[in-house]
Amino acid sequence: MLHPSKLNITLDRGGEEPIYRQLIRHVKAQIESGSLVAGTRLPASRDLAQQLNISRISVVNAYAELRAEGYLSAHAGRGTFIAGESPGIEPASKNGKVSEVETPTTPDRSIREMMRMGRKPGVISFSGGALPGEFFPMPQLRDAINLVFERDGAQALTYEVTEGYYPLRSAVRDYVSALGIQCTPNQVLITGGTQQALDLVIQALLSEGDVLVTENPTYLGMIDIARTRRVQIHGISIDEDGIRLDMLENYILDNHPKLIYVMPTFQNPSGTVMPLHRRRQLLNLANEYHISVLEDGVYHETRFEGEPLPPLKALDETGIVLHASGFTKMMLPGIRIGYLIGNSTHYERLVRVKQAADISTPTLNQRAVHLMLEHGVLAQQLERNNRELKRRRDVALSAAARYLPPNTLWNVPEGGLYLWMELPRNGPNAAELYISAVQMGAAYAIGNVFYTNGCGSYRMRVNFGAHKPADIEEGFKRLGRAWRELICDYEGMEKAPLL
Ligand SMILES: Cc1ncc(COP(=O)(O)O)c(C=O)c1O
Repeated sequence: MLHPSKLNITLDRGGEEPIYRQLIRHVKAQIESGSLVAGTRLPASRDLAQQLNISRISVVNAYAELRAEGYLSAHAGRGTFIAGESPGIEPASKNGKVSEVETPTTPDRSIREMMRMGRKPGVISFSGGALPGEFFPMPQLRDAINLVFERDGAQALTYEVTEGYYPLRSAVRDYVSALGIQCTPNQVLITGGTQQALDLVIQALLSEGDVLVTENPTYLGMIDIARTRRVQIHGISIDEDGIRLDMLENYILDNHPKLIYVMPTFQNPSGTVMPLHRRRQLLNLANEYHISVLEDGVYHETRFEGEPLPPLKALDETGIVLHASGFTKMMLPGIRIGYLIGNSTHYERLVRVKQAADISTPTLNQRAVHLMLEHGVLAQQLERNNRELKRRRDVALSAAARYLPPNTLWNVPEGGLYLWMELPRNGPNAAELYISAVQMGAAYAIGNVFYTNGCGSYRMRVNFGAHKPADIEEGFKRLGRAWRELICDYEGMEKAPLL
């Protein structure tokens, strides 16, 4: 094993600043000046305490805080290291432990292949991002489609204008005004799901090679868009309040990104909700550096607990935010109705890109969703769906506590579809467990795929909405069994406590 670096630090013992804070400041300064580089091993806390003639608890506290801020990573049995550039800090779990940081590894393409294995019949898969059929308002949709045909005849099957069916754009305006977003129908562009809204923004605002900043981890679909549109994507670590603004600002200063993409409410995959003060600070930062913000609000209304917060677009006084969302996640994924709310500067260009992509979003679907909005069907279904999501979340939480290995961490989401979990670092990682889990008949999304830099090896995302309670229970039971089978290969697991 490499010897740890000796730290060159002079402390001011008579000063007002506590010793551990001085230590933090020195280590940060040395990282930022480049004299401590990623991967450098730091002395053990006992050795550093001896070297500097200070108490060990000061070193332990300093290391813990530096780890929580993403400057350091700790590995059971191997020591403490300077973390990578964007080390993937994770929100603290609700059981109070702050997740440790991990050194980035190369993203593994075969992971996506592995995730396909989970689609075998008989596997209880928590890996997808959709809700099953029992969440869809089927009879109401059938009625709406029949009504559209009766009312509009063949008109329902012609091309629609690219911007979207005007009554639907008006209805979206009314719908989002209830969330606090003020706009006119002429600022609403109807899209083929939220996914197309995101893609149009990337195409309209960015050129090949431009830099897109995202949260790290982020939505896999956005990573795909960035790759296919050949824009550079850079993830900024998150904490329990969402994207780290200190790191974002440093990055902006050095790299001049063109666009910031965030999911302020029920971030996918981490479930993080950005509090109001950080929403405002993010907008201040974006305005200060004149960088547009693309807000993905697709999970905003899937809240089943707690108080809603205004979307960024509702707080946007300068028109810097583009708001993308849709009626897909909540209940109608296959109908593909999304929308984009922007300002007049970008609108024309977005419409041109949309026209080139698909001329218009399907007419029949737009008109049916319009009727459902007008008749309050979507609002009623949303209420039902959120009640059921809460029930399934509770089942998943108690099954996780019962069946998953000790020291597994997870969040307790107040909305959205996912548990964001972390396996103990001294056992099999999420990809290793996956193989055995699929053999046992359960699957999940391997955390790695959500990172822009290959972090997240011990992370897994579980869609608790995807199955009925009995299957959730059975799925977790199988995951636990799969883990216990593998654990035999990790001798010393019990002996090597997490740092
Ligand atoms: C954060 C996020 N944005 C957008 C989408 C795409 O949604 P849609 O089905 O509306 O295209 C998803 C789907 O999983 C998502 O998780």
